[in-house]
Amino acid sequence: MILAAYLAGSISSAILICRLRGLPDPRTQGSKNPGATNVMRFGGISTAIMVLVFDMLKGAVPAYLAFILGVNPVFLGVIAIAACLGHIYPIFFGFKGGKGVATAFGAMVPIGGDLALCLIGTWILVALITRYSSLAAISAAIMAPVYTWWLDERFALPVAMLSVLIIIRHKDNIIRLRQGDETKLTRKKKTPK
Ligand code: G3P
Repeated sequence: MILAAYLAGSISSAILICRLRGLPDPRTQGSKNPGATNVMRFGGISTAIMVLVFDMLKGAVPAYLAFILGVNPVFLGVIAIAACLGHIYPIFFGFKGGKGVATAFGAMVPIGGDLALCLIGTWILVALITRYSSLAAISAAIMAPVYTWWLDERFALPVAMLSVLIIIRHKDNIIRLRQGDETKLTRKKKTPK
């Protein structure tokens, strides 16, 4: 299951969907991150939503399968981390992947709808106030183990493991945020007809 999760995570939806839609490789555009936020900058909202949903499923499907098979919470966390590591270091795309936010979120969804709502609420709140996708993701990652401890403490440790991975992966964003150089959330402008 760990290997299968890693391989599923390695399917970079941002790169594939952009290729299918005749868009440039996200690793050459904007923040160069193959993720929904960066795809939205040059590919528009519909492409970004497709990437977001696909990336979430890469975490949700392995975690949900492990969940219904009654896998121990810590090993469930390891399976979720394997999916995220696949997304971050994809074997099919030269090990150059994304930051794992959507995949980690997808892996947390099977824990419960209340946790998912808390995380979405945190992300939206911080994104609306600051307009930084990265800061919204980092804030949700920090809060995730706290919410999980409160809602279902069995999963607090695996969620904390995922959060640490996500925060480490945002190292460059943290440096840019501190320097005031981080790009705010923007959408591709519609070209006038
Ligand atoms: O989910 C990725 C986001 O947190 C940061 O993306 O493209 O602004 O580095 P980006």
